[in-house]
Amino acid sequence: MAYYRLLGDVPPTRHTQHRTPEGGLYYEELMGEEGFSSDSSLLYHRHVPSAIVDARPWDAPDASRTPNSPLVPRHLRLHTLFAGDAWTRADAVTGRRLILGNDDVRISYVAAGRPSELYRNAVGDECVYIESGAATLETVFGALEVREGDYAVIPRATTHRWVPAPGGPLRAYAIEANSHIAPPRRYLSRYGQLLEHAPYCERDLTGPAAPLLAEGTDVDILVKHRGDGPGGITGTRYTTPHHPFDVVGWDGCLYPYTFNVADFQPITGRVHQPPPVHQVFGGHNFVICNFVPRKVDYHPLSIPVPYYHANVDSDEVMFYCGGDYEARKGSGIGQGSVSLHPGGHSHGPQPGAYERSVGVQEFDELAVMVDTFRPLGLGEGGRAAEDPGYAWTWSGRGPAR
Ligand SMILES: [Fe+2]
Repeated sequence: MAYYRLLGDVPPTRHTQHRTPEGGLYYEELMGEEGFSSDSSLLYHRHVPSAIVDARPWDAPDASRTPNSPLVPRHLRLHTLFAGDAWTRADAVTGRRLILGNDDVRISYVAAGRPSELYRNAVGDECVYIESGAATLETVFGALEVREGDYAVIPRATTHRWVPAPGGPLRAYAIEANSHIAPPRRYLSRYGQLLEHAPYCERDLTGPAAPLLAEGTDVDILVKHRGDGPGGITGTRYTTPHHPFDVVGWDGCLYPYTFNVADFQPITGRVHQPPPVHQVFGGHNFVICNFVPRKVDYHPLSIPVPYYHANVDSDEVMFYCGGDYEARKGSGIGQGSVSLHPGGHSHGPQPGAYERSVGVQEFDELAVMVDTFRPLGLGEGGRAAEDPGYAWTWSGRGPAR
């Protein structure tokens, strides 16, 4: 997505000689999407970017899934996954535990305290939401300082690593696509600028500020790629002869960036506004929305919590990451919870919340939602974090038999 940026040292004309101070050549690499037909950047390396000296299998985090069967709404308590000091031994790449996934998108959660190894996701773009904590996201394009409430959007095949800030845990909700992740097309001009009716603009996006150069020999990179492993995911560990952070300059429209949820300007209405007004990003067969603190419906007879709804084409995943979520009161949902409301099941406010919301002026809630257009299965982390009573909370009864 993203607009044009230029960092560091690039030659005045693309695809021409770019000389080092010693007279040698920098190595130009085009990193581009959709086979030279979409956004790209040109990176200038000190070393040949193709060079590897070893390749071995790497066991990527478990991507296996079990179907949501019998079909029920589910509540997953993510904070139970890294109990005690388990986060001090986890990193933000290999520590991820799959919560929910399908063949378009996978959602994982991690509480991390250690720096990750260098990592490259060749399956698709990642959008990592920071529930709490802070980190430096070191990338081949430069470093990004990441903080609570940030989405870090990392293009497919970007070499990077996560370095949590001291004191932490870094709590991260990782949305991994099999496609690209970008702002909704309806918010973009035909040339790609965010339009006036968009809930954020380019000024709210932060890219790397300077090239990041590192030295090293025989450096490993973990590569997640398409293959025949569980979920169609396989891992390979490359060893490169030189450190991959050797880019002295780059320019283009493809690079990692952050957007903080506090900079999302909510679109509100006289009566209830549907979830698409809360959309922030999207990928193939899924959307990402956020529900932020806001004034609510101002019709004198409005009911501010959502009407009951049957999303006949999608599974809906809410991650409750701040504030006080009015519609779910009485369900056991709290900070760090995920709800899965699958297609085929009507859902809406918990008993009493519908009536209680009449006359309310503002919601102090923060949630990140992923709607998928194909059904989601449960990952290892999702199964481990489940609260089995959630499905029955609207009726107030347990299973009939
Ligand atoms: Fe919903």
